[in-house]
Amino acid sequence: MPDQSPRGETPPRPPRASLRTSVVWEVVKDALDRRVKATGTDTLDVLDTGGGSGSFAVPVAQLGHRVTVVDPSPNALFALERRAAEAGVADRVQGVQGDVHGLFDVVEREAFDVVLCHGVLEYVDDPGEGVRNAVDALRPAGAISLLAAGLGGAVIARAIAGHFAEARRALTDPAGRWGDGDPVPRRFTAEQLTELCGEAGVEVGAVHGVRVFADLVPGVLVDTEPGALDALLKLEAAAAELSAFHSVASQLHVLGEKRA
Ligand SMILES: C[S@@+](CC[C@H](N)C(=O)[O-])C[C@H]1O[C@@H](n2cnc3c(N)ncnc32)[C@H](O)[C@@H]1O
Repeated sequence: MPDQSPRGETPPRPPRASLRTSVVWEVVKDALDRRVKATGTDTLDVLDTGGGSGSFAVPVAQLGHRVTVVDPSPNALFALERRAAEAGVADRVQGVQGDVHGLFDVVEREAFDVVLCHGVLEYVDDPGEGVRNAVDALRPAGAISLLAAGLGGAVIARAIAGHFAEARRALTDPAGRWGDGDPVPRRFTAEQLTELCGEAGVEVGAVHGVRVFADLVPGVLVDTEPGALDALLKLEAAAAELSAFHSVASQLHVLGEKRA
């Protein structure tokens, strides 16, 4: 879980927030390790586009890498600066105000070993251009980590809450929205995300379903039953890799490599 895995330390028992991050963090950490080995350098250049307040950027910097966060929100960048300072990695985290569509106004092309784009494609004007720019920021054979809202998870969540018409609307809406009050502008299927990657010149290495069960189980069960959180985390990790569960996950994660 990103908030608590500085280099060399044994992570403490997972807090509940780890349900949102643990699967992706493990995949990202593996990808960073592989790039370290492939490039022969311990310090990678990482771009977190739409990185917000640094929930991934700061832990990645704690692993010893240099992280640039591009985000349009001044508030998020302010929170990032504070979080990086508190974690003692202010010298390795740079926040830049900018947008994934105008990415090359603020960063160089082909300047990064790894690009993260988490929770952003839902909100941008043109997800295709967003992915292309993220990929263009990568050096050849660099790794891209994409995380976006999954369609199926939203349909199931609405149905379980008894909002059957909204669940059906999400199922048929081109953007996967359940209604006018839906705060998420766009959701994706695994096929749509992998297609965006393919079109942008990425070889998809792995797809993971994130929060397959976490949003469906009553919080009180996870918080009060001894060992329940650990068991749920292990279940999430086991289900994440199975394509049968991708279609019902709250979020989808795609890890890929820029084609040479
Ligand atoms: C849901 S938050 C995700 C933050 C972070 N990536 C994470 O996983 O915790 C979405 C972030 O995307 C940023 N964002 C929105 N539109 C964007 C755009 N066009 N380009 C880059 N970032 C954008 C927002 O400011 C916000 O920080």
